[in-house]
Amino acid sequence: MQKKPKVIVTRRWPEPVEQRLLASFDAELNTADEPMPASALQSAMQAADALCPTVSDKITEQIIDVEGARAKIIGNYGVGFNHIDIDAAKDAGIVVTNTPEVLTDCTADLAMTLLLMAARRAGEGERHVRHDEWTGWRPTHMMGTKVTGKTLGLIGFGRIAGAMAHKAHFGFGMRILFHDPYPPAVEVANKFGAIQCDSVEDVLRRSDFVSLHCPGGNETYHLLNAERIGEMQPHAFLINTARGDVVDQVALEQALRKGHIAGAGLDVYEGEPAVPKGLRELENVVVLPHLGSATMETRVAMGMRVVDNLEAYFADRAPRDRIV
Ligand code: DGY
Repeated sequence: MQKKPKVIVTRRWPEPVEQRLLASFDAELNTADEPMPASALQSAMQAADALCPTVSDKITEQIIDVEGARAKIIGNYGVGFNHIDIDAAKDAGIVVTNTPEVLTDCTADLAMTLLLMAARRAGEGERHVRHDEWTGWRPTHMMGTKVTGKTLGLIGFGRIAGAMAHKAHFGFGMRILFHDPYPPAVEVANKFGAIQCDSVEDVLRRSDFVSLHCPGGNETYHLLNAERIGEMQPHAFLINTARGDVVDQVALEQALRKGHIAGAGLDVYEGEPAVPKGLRELENVVVLPHLGSATMETRVAMGMRVVDNLEAYFADRAPRDRIV
């Protein structure tokens, strides 16, 4: 009987996916769910045919090029791959795959959750009740911002932005603006009556809510810097479910403290899991712990997608989500 490929998984995955991994491969799971240090990731590259990291594992050139590397495929659990040195993988002839599509709706749902929470002061209201500070209904209590009918600006217009545009436009009657250097086909934007803007600045100036949907990485590092945040309207809100380093967090905190923008809803941070104290202190910021794809259905589907990719690779078929 042919030996099963050895697969090393860096964190716990949902139970049904772990069961499938164990059935299909000689799988080494991380039952303790402790993050693996760089040295352990290097050893995994040497010991396994496939390494399965996730978005919180930094897969550097030093890990990919470790002496005696045996792994030929990195099956990433997650759609974003800015934590993997893709050039190093390409140079080393290592295949990298990700998990697109299956997390589109849940991530867009969470972006919408943040938008609604920030606009309607839901986090603040919840703290108010839990701290036993609520003294009863009154006409001027905790007035927020109306969402229905407002303008939503999307920075990046890929799958997740499209799903958010759908929910915002058809569910909340919102007008949709967007900027993307690689815009979708006109028919796609037309489905939501989305208006293409020439620049990020144009979107920022014209939107009541700005939601980020661009990939992380060098090209988008601090895309939202002090100057660009300064282009937003004082009543506007910034929503980030993309990657933390797309936003200059120091500039964001200052803009929020000075009232240059009205609030923010954040799911991702530069240097996770650290969340700056300055942002956590602000009542007009909703902070969530990178929950975009965190539903049972989606997390299982993401894992199954990794297994599909690995099975295809080891059966000499093209993995459907191959990046390089
Ligand atoms: C991803 O997949 O890139 C998200 O950040 C986690 O689901």
